[in-house]
Amino acid sequence: MPRPAARSATYEAPPNIALVKYWGVRDRELILPYNPSLSVTLERLRSRTTVRFDPELADDRVVLNRAPAVGAPRDDVVAFLDRVRARAGLTDRASVVSDNNFPTASGLASSASGFAALAGAASAAAGLSLSDRGLSALARLGSGSASRSVFGGFVEWRAGVRPDGLDCYARPLYGPRHWPALVDLVLLVERAPTKEMRSVDAMQRTVATSPGYRARLAEVPRRLRQIARAIGARDPARLFPLVMEECDSFREVCETTRPSLDYLTTASRGVLAEVRGMNREAGRPIAAYTHDAGAHVHVFTLARDLPRVRRRLAAVPGVERTLTLRPGPGMRRIPARGSPAGARPRRTS
Ligand code: DP6
Repeated sequence: MPRPAARSATYEAPPNIALVKYWGVRDRELILPYNPSLSVTLERLRSRTTVRFDPELADDRVVLNRAPAVGAPRDDVVAFLDRVRARAGLTDRASVVSDNNFPTASGLASSASGFAALAGAASAAAGLSLSDRGLSALARLGSGSASRSVFGGFVEWRAGVRPDGLDCYARPLYGPRHWPALVDLVLLVERAPTKEMRSVDAMQRTVATSPGYRARLAEVPRRLRQIARAIGARDPARLFPLVMEECDSFREVCETTRPSLDYLTTASRGVLAEVRGMNREAGRPIAAYTHDAGAHVHVFTLARDLPRVRRRLAAVPGVERTLTLRPGPGMRRIPARGSPAGARPRRTS
């Protein structure tokens, strides 16, 4: 009998930056968050991942940014493949090759783009034909924030209430071209420490020990609604203060976690102070800072204010590089070479 052929698929997925932060899970296994979150999908930066299920392979092979993955990063990918195999009724081992088009050392390497691309490529290669919502829910199991990278533009991840997670997935609120004047100026700071612990583990320490966590949970849904409305109205005067309020709330619960989670460096704090100063001087909010569980800072501003905002922030001691990004499209399948339309995902039934 002829052996079944290896089946492969390639997907590209972008990172995203959260304006309303996901922080805390009610179910660690299914990655079901306590609160909804909202993010902007970023243009240009991409993880590109090819998955090939191959009956000839004795073990999974995982190559990340041209180096064989070992330890936790490999284990996380293999655990994710196991979920896909279980769903597709497959036993074949897989080869996974994933590259970021942005330097991992820049500290921007994101589990969001990586796991979204892996969800797309692994499910298609396994013959599962998932809807975007299904892909979002699958990507979530690899990394919560990856659920949002399936979509472009402004994306909400609904927390849901069901214990089985069937109502927990992301959906696009506004497309990537909704607000062309909005830019994300990324300030890359020197000596940004690399992540010691996955966020999904760090956040559970916050849930258990930060005295302000419950109060934060109570206020996030209101803030998310206000932020979504301000984006809908393309209103920076409403949006920017809310984005900073949310970032401050996130930072506060991190810093009051025991032991404290302190993600910022002196340079990052310098950027936050400079943004506050510029807004004070302008007499209106011309920029808004936010950061994730890392030291680099994202500053949202309008294209017309970008030159002066960039000049001021690039001069903050310890800012090494700036990157100007706009909202971008979500993930996509890359057609197989030699087939203009690409291999169509096969259905399981
Ligand atoms: C602070 O799900 O990206 O960026 O467990 O490390 O994969 P890992 O974390 P992830 O957590 C993101 C936390 C956050 C906020 C957010 O993106 O909403």
